[in-house]
Amino acid sequence: MSTKEQVLAALLEAEGPVSGEWLARKLQISRNAVWKAINQLREEGHQIEGATNRGYSLAEAKEMVSEAGIRRWLTTAVFGRQMEVHSTLDSTNTRAKALAAQGAAHGTLVCAREQTAGRGRFGRRFFSPEDGGIYMSLLLRPAMPADQAVMVTSMAAVAVARAIERLAEVEIQIKWVNDLYADGKKLCGILCEAGMDFESGQLDYAIPGIGVNTAPMEFPEELRGIATSVGNVCGHDISKNRLVAEICNCMEELYGQLETGAFMSEFRARSNVIGRKIIVLRGDERFPARAVDIDDHGSLIVETEDGLKTVHSGEVSVRWEE
Ligand code: BTN
Repeated sequence: MSTKEQVLAALLEAEGPVSGEWLARKLQISRNAVWKAINQLREEGHQIEGATNRGYSLAEAKEMVSEAGIRRWLTTAVFGRQMEVHSTLDSTNTRAKALAAQGAAHGTLVCAREQTAGRGRFGRRFFSPEDGGIYMSLLLRPAMPADQAVMVTSMAAVAVARAIERLAEVEIQIKWVNDLYADGKKLCGILCEAGMDFESGQLDYAIPGIGVNTAPMEFPEELRGIATSVGNVCGHDISKNRLVAEICNCMEELYGQLETGAFMSEFRARSNVIGRKIIVLRGDERFPARAVDIDDHGSLIVETEDGLKTVHSGEVSVRWEE
């Protein structure tokens, strides 16, 4: 960790103001180095109150995503232990893909405080305003056939749902295949991208990219009726650093179940689609159906005029019938 990150970690750990001298002694650096680090952190936007002789403290209200802040809550052995945290990125998925191509390790985490070109499914944009939420991608290298990559998405959906519920009084539902909902509106999207080894047909990497709206906020007109945030639902902001860490913790807990798909029972229990009338959108085709079940491979079983059909995730989207 850089000196700046160490100072930030010490401020996060401290309960209340700590003096420049105390920080210098704790980190075994000069008071001048402490002062420089404090200034750098302030320039980045961290709200640090106080001065050398009065003691420094971090203002709780405007917590920013940071490496030190995330590490404080990580309980994993592997996931998130290698990480990059950026103030701004075009897309954390794009960055994670570049890292994958450079041979980055399984479990590498990429986070950004804002994305200028956040990507959603089907080429859509993902609204990613500065400090409005968490924008993260985890680089995973599971030993599994590429055609089973959808299980990574399903696992991520369950992990994020659990993580949010550990931090806030909200009930999270999953709209097949990977949108998370609370109070009937979407608060999280997951875009899972994968690379395969053509020789073996095995996955080279899979990158679940996760965007969760956390801060209480007003959405732009076009999103108002369909999007929400954790803060809007539970009435207060939550710690973004803790949420990122908790998602890594939950992902690592579930990762061992990737082969068996044991987490699919929780996926089904959280589904807000099963039993409902839906419209299946497959390329240019669209047909009405009733969602009956989700199988252990993450596919949706629907009842149509022509009988039961299995729709594979990745090829369709569903929307509730109006
Ligand atoms: C969707 O709702 O269609 C999926 C949205 C996925 C957004 C996340 S934010 C972090 C990661 N980086 C991206 O560019 N997209 C994903």
